[in-house]
Amino acid sequence: AGFERTTLMKAHELTAKLYQYILRNTDQGKEALQYVRSRGLSDKMIDTFGIGYAPANWDTLTQLLEKRGFSLPLMERGGLISARSEGGGFVDRFRNRIIFPICDTSGGVIAFAGRAFGEAQPKYLNSPETMLFNKSRSLFHLHAARPQIRKDHTVIIFEGFMDVIKAWSAGVHNGVATMGTAFTPEQADIIRRLAERVIICYDGDSAGQAAAAKCIPMLEKVNCSVSVAMIPDGKDPDEYIESNGQDRFVREIIRGAVPAMRFRLLHSRKNYNLNEEGDRLRYLQAAVEIIGELSSPLERDHYVKDLSVEFNESYEVLKHSLHEARLSQQ
Ligand code: UTP
Ligand code: MN
Ligand code: MN
Ligand code: MN
Ligand code: MN
Repeated sequence: AGFERTTLMKAHELTAKLYQYILRNTDQGKEALQYVRSRGLSDKMIDTFGIGYAPANWDTLTQLLEKRGFSLPLMERGGLISARSEGGGFVDRFRNRIIFPICDTSGGVIAFAGRAFGEAQPKYLNSPETMLFNKSRSLFHLHAARPQIRKDHTVIIFEGFMDVIKAWSAGVHNGVATMGTAFTPEQADIIRRLAERVIICYDGDSAGQAAAAKCIPMLEKVNCSVSVAMIPDGKDPDEYIESNGQDRFVREIIRGAVPAMRFRLLHSRKNYNLNEEGDRLRYLQAAVEIIGELSSPLERDHYVKDLSVEFNESYEVLKHSLHEARLSQQ
């Protein structure tokens, strides 16, 4: 099995090189290169992230792997190629897609994500789970982000590949991505071993914000101090950077990250019409219950005070509600 892993790692390395070469140096790759550049990626970024292009042909990679003596059934189990549905033999798994290599913590390539350009579905096709690639334990670009993570004691979590890449070109070098899948307890453990502070910077759409809300308790459970960087108008970090620039992204979005409690209170507001008295009271009750989950009395008091000021309600009464909420939460 050790031998198979080593072989498969070599095959991934070769595959990454092939796709990079095709993107940068061939006619076949021209349209893809245009697309990548149109998304605001410089040649330097393409290089840093090892971005490539899997051509539209059926078996460019399959042929190369065969020629180099790799066992094709092993390559199939490794997710690089697929068995033909009829007639035997193999075809490339990734065709006509922009390729993002996914690395292990030592920087070895263990999987790929392929983005369609044009309307092909799914938008991203990823490697399957293999002996190298365990999705629930992978974080995109962690190997390269590690030095900055250690320096800042902070990890920034994004949803997508492009977000990590564009943040990197804005000078934010401690970003990783969960690659769209739900955040896992394993990922929380991996992060906690590297840093105690986490900034969640998910997409500003409702799916991204709901995912951020789910991520918070998992990180708090392993004692990370969590804040949330929120992006206005439903944009994602990549789109925000494209329309507002790198500097504003760093100054307003990243530095403007708010404590997880502040985010949770803002997030829960979406369920209430605060112009309506009954709803406003229901929100206050919900807010007090959320605040009641804080273990620090100082922090609880801080947020209750804020509520009383913002909604012009009695601080004493809100504190009493908080007390009752905590009793019933125990
Ligand atoms: P998004 O839908 O937000 O995509 O999914 P994106 O990152 O903004 O992609 P661009 O900017 O359109 O290129 C977030 C992440 O979810 C995963 C990918 O990792 C993606 O970056 N995803 C999304 C998939 O794995 N498959 C999909 O079909 C879609
Ligand atoms: Mn999204
Ligand atoms: Mn997105
Ligand atoms: Mn995007
Ligand atoms: Mn305050």
